[in-house]
Amino acid sequence: MRHFFEHKEHLVRMAVLFVVGILAFVVFREIMVPAGFGEYGHFRAGALDDVRAHPVKYAGQATCVQCHTDIAEQRAQGKHAHIGCEACHGPLATHAEGKSDEVPTKPDPRATCLRCHTQNVTKPKTFPQIVPAEHSAEGPCTACHQAHSPSLS
Ligand code: HEC
Ligand code: HEC
Ligand code: HEC
Ligand code: HEC
Repeated sequence: MRHFFEHKEHLVRMAVLFVVGILAFVVFREIMVPAGFGEYGHFRAGALDDVRAHPVKYAGQATCVQCHTDIAEQRAQGKHAHIGCEACHGPLATHAEGKSDEVPTKPDPRATCLRCHTQNVTKPKTFPQIVPAEHSAEGPCTACHQAHSPSLS
């Protein structure tokens, strides 16, 4: 037994190191873990309030077409009928709620289109894609296509 504790300083040093380590962990955890965490398992109840506090940015298509009935009609028969207005126009909740007098800027009639239609092997083959340099090297796509009803045929 005596033989066993002959070099006990090593053990003491290690034990001290462990205690310091655990203390540091406990203190760090106390500082870093936000209030309310763990109340409902591995969740923080307050996260819901945080999310709810975000301002609404997207109005949704149903709201847009209440006023822009003409655009809804143009789109109804076209291939873009099922693309949400704000997928191209960007978030416009403040406009739709009448909270802003600013008339929204129109989407870029070339860059917007290329975002979806530029050829890329990772897109499904059935999705209509073009090689911009071959199809239309410059200028707005809307010179030939209508944004809200794009097919020519
Ligand atoms: C409460 C009615 C209303 C709603 C809802 C609404 N708009 Fe508008 N929007 C208007 C009015 C009014 C104008 C200004 C028309 C003008 O000056 O030519 C306008 C202008 C615009 C313009 C600029 C038109 C131009 O000629 O430059 C765009 C783009 C637009 N709205 C898109 C949208 C989208 C997308 C939504 C849905 C997120 C939406 N609007 C929801 C009433 C509305
Ligand atoms: C595929 C993309 C796309 C979608 C989806 C789309 N728009 Fe547009 N919209 C455009 C582009 C691009 C223009 C600008 C056209 C131009 O400059 O000739 C435009 C123009 C407009 C304008 C200005 C008037 C006009 O006819 O040029 C209004 C208003 C508008 N969009 C409303 C809407 C509404 C409302 C919806 C949904 C019901 C919608 N848009 C869906 C791309 C889109
Ligand atoms: C958010 C993605 C998106 C944007 C942005 C977009 N499109 Fe499209 N486009 C589509 C989808 C989805 C279809 C329908 C594909 C289908 O039915 O198989 C389509 C269909 C088309 C077609 C019809 C092809 C055919 O088979 O008749 C043309 C042309 C077209 N888009 C041109 C445009 C132009 C021009 C713009 C810019 C004003 C534009 N697109 C912007 C997604 C997009
Ligand atoms: C000079 C006229 C012209 C311009 C400008 C133009 N296109 Fe086209 N586009 C056509 C014609 C013609 C077709 C074939 C007819 C059809 O499918 O409706 C076509 C077909 C398409 C198709 C369907 C391809 C397919 O395989 O089904 C897409 C997508 C398209 N264009 C996107 C664009 C985009 C994006 C731009 C802007 C970078 C653009 N076009 C500019 C004339 C034009």
